[in-house]
Amino acid sequence: MPQPRRELAPAKLNLTLHVTGRRPDGYHLLDSLVVFLALGDVVTVAPGPLSLELSGPFAKGLTAEPDNLCLRAARLAGHEARITLEKNLPVASGIGGGSADAAAVLRALDARPEGSEVLGADVPVCLAGRPTRMRGLGEILDPLPPLPQLHVLLVNPGRGLSTPQVFQALQRRDNPPMPEPMPGFPDAAALIDFLRRCRNDLEAPAIRLMPEIAACLAAIRDQGAQLARMSGSGATCFGLFASAAQAEAARTRIAGANPGWWVAASGLAPANP
Ligand code: C5P
Repeated sequence: MPQPRRELAPAKLNLTLHVTGRRPDGYHLLDSLVVFLALGDVVTVAPGPLSLELSGPFAKGLTAEPDNLCLRAARLAGHEARITLEKNLPVASGIGGGSADAAAVLRALDARPEGSEVLGADVPVCLAGRPTRMRGLGEILDPLPPLPQLHVLLVNPGRGLSTPQVFQALQRRDNPPMPEPMPGFPDAAALIDFLRRCRNDLEAPAIRLMPEIAACLAAIRDQGAQLARMSGSGATCFGLFASAAQAEAARTRIAGANPGWWVAASGLAPANP
């Protein structure tokens, strides 16, 4: 690594998340349509002894301890590196976070170590960095053709949620799988029609643990979203809007009415990081 390298760690969005079973070891089987957004954390790696420096609006939610996923990723890859992480996304919020950051470190180091899923179930899909149907625990990846552009609004109630607690609070673990996606969605309307027939099975248990999630979803619907759903194990919710201008208008209104919430508008990331 002769030169410092900078990598975006795009926010991951679970447009759908079906929980279809549970293994004897307690891990859950998932069926999820995952996409990446044009906003995210920013990772840089430079030559030097292994270290981590944190900055950005959500840096205070993290520590640069050895168990930080950026440091664990570099150790798994067998690299020394001076890493900086600009934390632009809320921590523990269902949009990739640590897994996205770990994947960005591996990309910056040009490393694809075996067993990257030990860092987090979402690390393999974050390494893929493109629209993907994700199954198993997160290791079975079927890339999808490029999707029509979506106008996404993210709304987070300003508190983190523990992923294991949300899975524990799930009442039914053998839910139907995701319907078969079209081989190529001709336009956003067809994609949104498909998404309406899908679910996030973690939404109900997450709302029981954190009722503000229901308020986020209601605020998104009130702004005329075509679809409102939670991502991952929460608490970040997303709305899909007919245009970037409508998503931006909804962002302004929801942020203005809810000063403690984190609200952002974005499109999908370019096809590949
Ligand atoms: O791998 P990750 O850090 O995302 O997982 C956090 C926790 O979420 C796991 O320890 C497990 O309790 C739960 N989980 C699960 N099934 C999955 C992924 C995560 O039960 N497929």
